[in-house]
Amino acid sequence: MQTLPSPHNANVTSGLSFDMDDWRSGYRSQPEEFAYWLDDVEGEIPTALEGTLFRNGPGLLDIHGHTLKHPFDGDGMINSIAFKNGQAYYHNRFVHTEGYVAEQEAQKPLYRGVFGTQKPGGWFANVFDLKLKNIANTHVIYWGGKLLALWEAAEPHRLDPKTLETIGLDDLEGLLKPGDAFAAHPKIDPGDPAQGQAPRLVNFSIKTGLSSTIRIHEFAPSGDRIKSYQQNIPGFAFMHDCMITPNYVIFFQNPVSFNPFPFLLGLKGAGECIEFNPKAKTNIILMPRDGESTLQSIEAPAGFVFHHVNAFEQDGKVFVDSVVYEDFPSLDEGMTFEDVDFSKVPAGQVWRFELDLAANTCDYSCLISRSCEFPALHPDRVGRPYRYLYIGAAHTSTGNAPLQALLKRDLATGAEQLWSEAPRGFMSEPVFVPHPDSQAEDDGWLLTLIYNAARRCSDLIILDAQDISRGPIARLKLKHHVPYGLHGSFVAEYFGPAIAA
Ligand code: FE2
Repeated sequence: MQTLPSPHNANVTSGLSFDMDDWRSGYRSQPEEFAYWLDDVEGEIPTALEGTLFRNGPGLLDIHGHTLKHPFDGDGMINSIAFKNGQAYYHNRFVHTEGYVAEQEAQKPLYRGVFGTQKPGGWFANVFDLKLKNIANTHVIYWGGKLLALWEAAEPHRLDPKTLETIGLDDLEGLLKPGDAFAAHPKIDPGDPAQGQAPRLVNFSIKTGLSSTIRIHEFAPSGDRIKSYQQNIPGFAFMHDCMITPNYVIFFQNPVSFNPFPFLLGLKGAGECIEFNPKAKTNIILMPRDGESTLQSIEAPAGFVFHHVNAFEQDGKVFVDSVVYEDFPSLDEGMTFEDVDFSKVPAGQVWRFELDLAANTCDYSCLISRSCEFPALHPDRVGRPYRYLYIGAAHTSTGNAPLQALLKRDLATGAEQLWSEAPRGFMSEPVFVPHPDSQAEDDGWLLTLIYNAARRCSDLIILDAQDISRGPIARLKLKHHVPYGLHGSFVAEYFGPAIAA
């Protein structure tokens, strides 16, 4: 398999491409809320880049001095960067969830976190406290005129796209009952303009236990729901992401089980009660989007997948590209995220699964062996054959490490490009934005928020997707840091302040 060597970087002289204290410093709470023009810019913001980048992720890593065990338990903070006429406006606000408001008033933790954060007071303060805090920290999308902050175990929060003020929980026109799940990884099917097929938002929810029910919802660009359908599968299911093709919604039912007792007894978070079984198989589940046909399940080797890259149908087969870990990434008992030893936790790699539906078989091969996460591609290629894959990657070609680089892979030729911010820069999820007049699949920009440990602040980086190895075409220096985030999206609407023509 072709892979790039580590990029030469004069500042990386030791075996490690990073300093742990640098990495940890990107996980400081950011309690402040800002709104300002980004006027400290190296390079030039393309004038053709117009629209708004929304990002979500944990804004607080502690609650009034009580450190979270895991960043995934942190309250959601939305960042927006609005681009127009070569200018950019930054804004951030916390999602005012019920839990965030209550804890800020009380000035202490009132909830247990799914990923292991416990209320102070030990076992007695946590036993049988099963109430969930909807922290709204995972993704943010704009669809049907609504900006929605997503967290997979509960309803979305609706926000004002311009002010980022929280409007409240959104039940999607009565679709969701209080406490209903709505996953944090909706997919936008680009449709087929030549056939008069409009884009659709496709999302799911799961109810799981000894067996699981997967429910799919498809929405028109207006936000109106087109249809919902569901299927039951045997066994426990922890599925964070899905992938779509024109005919299927695809899930990986990873070989994990759930032992609820440490959670019920107040000893662990629910997410810490997940156990990986390396001897079991992954079930790849294909749910027909006609909403009627029987689902198909195909076995694949054990592995754990948080995120899929893409899927497509070709020559009677279905191909799925996914970021696979050889084990469920988790923290040892008694550890917090700040203690993590990267050499001891599994690294993500991109694997391709080739599904022969007629034979009910799966072939697989590794596409990217370098440690990587947070994939991106051209939005028009979602669910379709595609050529270019972009993903956050480690600086070094082997071993596990924080994401410090961006990797572009040409799936047709195997060629790769790499741009690295090591040793003091740390990458987040890239978002591909097509050039408005784009013809080529890689004609556009990659936007990514990096944490710059040298400044102890964050930078918004704009790269030319056709040649990322030449480095940023613009670096927009924020006046502060944004803790490492999760997911986000770009919309063509400009939601910044008015600009004189
Ligand atoms: Fe995710």
